[in-house]
Amino acid sequence: VKGLYLVRHGETTWNAEQRIGGDPLLNDHGNCQARAMAEHLKSLPLGFIFTSSKQRSRQMAEPLLCARPEARHMVIKEFDEIHAGICEGMTYEEMRRTLPQEFAARSADKYQYTYPGGESYATLQSRVDRGLKKALWIAGVSQNICIVGHQAVNRAILAQFLFRRQQDVPYINIPQEKYYHIVSVQEKKVVELLGY
Ligand code: G3H
Repeated sequence: VKGLYLVRHGETTWNAEQRIGGDPLLNDHGNCQARAMAEHLKSLPLGFIFTSSKQRSRQMAEPLLCARPEARHMVIKEFDEIHAGICEGMTYEEMRRTLPQEFAARSADKYQYTYPGGESYATLQSRVDRGLKKALWIAGVSQNICIVGHQAVNRAILAQFLFRRQQDVPYINIPQEKYYHIVSVQEKKVVELLGY
């Protein structure tokens, strides 16, 4: 792949309430962010736009797909957000109140912590790696690609390029309204965080 544009979906109704996981839609602000992202990236020759199977990821990609109809869209389920098991749909505050031991265990080791009935960052990392391999293989060496992912998923993808210590991965900054551009320059990987 020539260049990788790693975008996080815009704001959803659940982000606004600090609610974990689920399959919410973008809210009005999130839809504006999707249009701004498309406006910013539309001049790029993009071979592929990969999304997860979640509505917020596909909705975020829609304006860019309209602006660049020649770019192919592909859903990669391995890019779905970390599954929070019994905590799906809770706010972090509800989790702290109703499941204090789980909340404390997660704070103590966020990378290894597994949500009951869900995933850990460690297990997420291996499925995201599989998805990334798939995307890079499909796109080949000469294409620019865009991945519209999620907070935890984009952390796992970036960890591939940043050589982070495992315990730092769940704390990598993945803001909305910014994206990471990863490109090889003279066989070195350059990672930059840019705004749209
Ligand atoms: O809903 C899931 C969040 O995007 C993951 O963020 O691992 O920092 O709680 P977190």
